[in-house]
Amino acid sequence: MKVILVTGANRGIGRETIRQLARQGHKTILTGRNAERVRQAQDDLAAEGIITDACPVDVRDDNSVAHLVRFIADRYGKLDVLVNNAGVFLDGSDSAKADIEIIRDTFDTNVLGPYRLIEKLLPFLKKSGDARIINISSGMGGLSEMNGGYPGYRISKTALNAVTRIFANDLAAEKIRVNSVCPGWVKTDMGGERATREVDQGAETVVWLATADNIPNGKFLRDKKEIPW
Ligand SMILES: NC(=O)c1ccc[n+]([C@@H]2O[C@H](COP(=O)([O-])OP(=O)(O)OC[C@H]3O[C@@H](n4cnc5c(N)ncnc54)[C@H](OP(=O)(O)O)[C@@H]3O)[C@@H](O)[C@H]2O)c1
Repeated sequence: MKVILVTGANRGIGRETIRQLARQGHKTILTGRNAERVRQAQDDLAAEGIITDACPVDVRDDNSVAHLVRFIADRYGKLDVLVNNAGVFLDGSDSAKADIEIIRDTFDTNVLGPYRLIEKLLPFLKKSGDARIINISSGMGGLSEMNGGYPGYRISKTALNAVTRIFANDLAAEKIRVNSVCPGWVKTDMGGERATREVDQGAETVVWLATADNIPNGKFLRDKKEIPW
């Protein structure tokens, strides 16, 4: 039984990841930036018979993350898996009309958020012995798939992939494996109704990386297979 924390898990792919991992018997910690929405998601899952711990965390906010650190120290003293799932998609398709503030805000959540969580939760991950960090990226941030438009989102996910590579190298000696995942185009509030995948499919590779024995390190994956950066 692993202790697994997922950010931005009050809805979408994050909540589905909690659902699947808790069903397998893992000790999950559902987090999200709004305390009421976090409590509601915890209650909704409980109504399905899925029990999860929960703690509000805004990944942009040092004080909020400090509260999370105390929560983990008091209740668990270690962390086996950190899923950096929280993300925003704020910009439109026209790069020429991009608002720098939108790019900055996107970067704050999608890049500095995961970086902050890794940095602050590392002491707990080091106590695991088999720790994993899973960064939910996107093909939209893959340089090999890069097209135009949506600059804030694209640049943030490319940078998140860099965070994956940096920590995968830095933490290899500690046996902490760090990977990026593209979940595909998933029917969530972010992905929209026209998306091609259901949310359970979107969470599949994340759940696999959290739990399987033979997983890679420092890779970008979709459907449990390596894809180019
Ligand atoms: N859906 C897709 O097609 C798709 C494709 C590729 C990659 N992704 C990535 O997959 C991840 C999950 O996406 P999704 O489709 O499930 O999106 P979603 O339904 O929009 O959910 C995003 C989650 O992130 C939370 N969040 C946003 N800002 C936060 C912050 N500062 N601190 C903590 N939580 C925050 C949201 O909380 P609130 O409810 O409070 O807003 C929500 O719980 C994202 O990283 C996204 O970029 C999604």
